[in-house]
Amino acid sequence: AKGGYDHFMRKEIEEQPTALRQAIRGRVGTDDRRTPADLESLPRDSLAGVERVHFVGMGTSYHAAMYGASVVDWGIPAQAYLSGEYADRTPEPDEGTLVVAVTQSGETADTLEAVRRANEHGARTLAVTNVVGSTATRDCDDSLFIRAGPEVGVAATKTFSAQIATLALLRERLHTDTVGAHSDDIDERLTALERLPSLVEQTIEDSPVRSIAREFDDSDAYFFIGRGTGRSVALEGALKFKEITYEHAEGFAASELKHGPLALVTTETPVFAVFTGYDDEALLTSVEEVSARGAPVVGIGADPTGALAERVDHLLELPDTHPDVAGVLANVQLQLFAYHAADRIGRPIDKPRNLAKCVTVE
Ligand code: F6R
Repeated sequence: AKGGYDHFMRKEIEEQPTALRQAIRGRVGTDDRRTPADLESLPRDSLAGVERVHFVGMGTSYHAAMYGASVVDWGIPAQAYLSGEYADRTPEPDEGTLVVAVTQSGETADTLEAVRRANEHGARTLAVTNVVGSTATRDCDDSLFIRAGPEVGVAATKTFSAQIATLALLRERLHTDTVGAHSDDIDERLTALERLPSLVEQTIEDSPVRSIAREFDDSDAYFFIGRGTGRSVALEGALKFKEITYEHAEGFAASELKHGPLALVTTETPVFAVFTGYDDEALLTSVEEVSARGAPVVGIGADPTGALAERVDHLLELPDTHPDVAGVLANVQLQLFAYHAADRIGRPIDKPRNLAKCVTVE
């Protein structure tokens, strides 16, 4: 069943190009001006009444929700919430609110509870899920399938990538339906999305991450930083790493460093910085701050001029692409890093202690 791989996680990391192709297939228009095609139950103009978007999710799906909110927010107010916190204190959803439940399994109790609240307030609800017929698809007004194929490893990998691709398409549907105007940006973003599967393939093939993992065996803790969509990837990188290695890992917004976390940074705490091509200069300032404390820095990003390689100790290079999808490539490097680090210390990668694939209690 593992198709020659030692672990499902490894197999599922490698399946990401296929998962992405499936997520995108038939969903990008083929007319001369590229537009998002009808998204199944969300045909053209179906989201015209949406005034704001609340994304809800837990764990990896929350990180995808954050990613989605940071790209949607350019045109329509959008915010990501942990489903488990989407209770009485967060803004009440109303008829103009689209509540997007991001959930691989479609069965996560916290997320189903958030959907219940949204329905109660008359919001429009949309499940973005991998599982046809799951509870989320029954409880939400509409469903959009991420089409990643079954995921066996407890650590979510290919479903994160497929969630991002699906949310990128949802973003185009939302923007064309609400703002209406077609812009060259859409062409550019859709082209980048269509190229993403082969760039993921290239990233996996070329990754030097295995030898880098060896260097950091004895570290005290592992930190991950980024800005914008890079922040969601930093949080996801830390989650994956702690989940399967049992080592201390934390992700933060790079802008947060000076407000506390910098106190933890030493020569024994590698810092992974996620460069997306957006706000890179500001991130480099954070890199200098941690480098000055002697922390080894691993930069993850495209480096067409070779300038990034000079500012970091190790570079996990990415193919150059649109900043809105670059995070997917960076995340693939971090998945591989977590995988190799966990494998080196013999962890049960597909079934980490204390965790279940599907959390059906709040
Ligand atoms: C982490 C992981 C979990 C899930 C979370 C939500 O690798 O898999 O954090 O992402 O339990 O699950 P779903 O997406 O099924 O709602």
